[in-house]
Amino acid sequence: MPIASSELACPNQLKKIAANPGRYFRLLRKALLQGLSPLLVNSAFRLQGQMDIHANSRWYDRSFVEQFGGFQLPDDSPRMIGNLDAWDSVRRDMMVLLMRDLLDRQVAGDIAELGVYKGYTARLIHHYMPEKILHLYDTFQGFDVRDVKEEIKVKGRKPRKNHFSDTSVEGVLRLINSKNGRVRVHQGFFPESALKSQEKNRYCLVHLDADLYAPIMAGLHYFYPRVVSGGFILVHDFNAWPGARTAVSEFFQDKPENPIPMPDKNGSALVQKM
Ligand SMILES: C[S@@+](CC[C@H](N)C(=O)[O-])C[C@H]1O[C@@H](n2cnc3c(N)ncnc32)[C@H](O)[C@@H]1O
Repeated sequence: MPIASSELACPNQLKKIAANPGRYFRLLRKALLQGLSPLLVNSAFRLQGQMDIHANSRWYDRSFVEQFGGFQLPDDSPRMIGNLDAWDSVRRDMMVLLMRDLLDRQVAGDIAELGVYKGYTARLIHHYMPEKILHLYDTFQGFDVRDVKEEIKVKGRKPRKNHFSDTSVEGVLRLINSKNGRVRVHQGFFPESALKSQEKNRYCLVHLDADLYAPIMAGLHYFYPRVVSGGFILVHDFNAWPGARTAVSEFFQDKPENPIPMPDKNGSALVQKM
């Protein structure tokens, strides 16, 4: 549906505007943003419209949302959707839609995240799916020197020293602010932290966001057999960090699933377990 610019410009609409200035302000703002967006196409940041099912979307589709629920499950109590980076709404929306799908299909199992840092994606996951136990794996001290050495060996790339070390378990738990105690922290070097715990969990969703070849490969080896059929493995940085892409490509070479590239800011790879 094109923007009703005539509604904004026509002088005999002034009375209507005065009667409902909020509506016209919103229209003007949308028109401006939509007009600006082509100017930003070749810049570092471009404007991406909200999905049609987002209430702020220029193309918000009420009838679709009423029937199917949009970001929320139909007839369910509202689930909280926390923002990630403002300039990467694709990532947030993708994660929400994956979680919504798991809930819709009632896929059993816990959730795991390897690579938590300050807890932004963990907070999004926990508050959208608070009924699931969320296992968080991280050193909470940044990259481990063993992984960095491996990255240099495999990819010839040296990650920054102390990358992601400015965090803490307390800070992450404070940010997540869980009301139900279903967030479990496993601090330490992965995979040692997981192997040590001898847990026997099954997972419906595994989010691997550890950037480097070694932890991502270890995460795939550890979690893949533990993900239930129909569950998802989402690997971030598939189109950003060379080690992440190599690990995914090598691991799935002899598996029945094909990782599907997803266009968030860093590019993710999505796998649905058979
Ligand atoms: C990109 S950050 C995670 C960002 C987070 N998922 C978000 O989007 O909010 C990567 C994290 O992976 C962690 N990490 C990398 N290798 C690890 C390993 N072998 N064991 C545990 N944590 C690791 C780092 O400590 C860092 O906090």
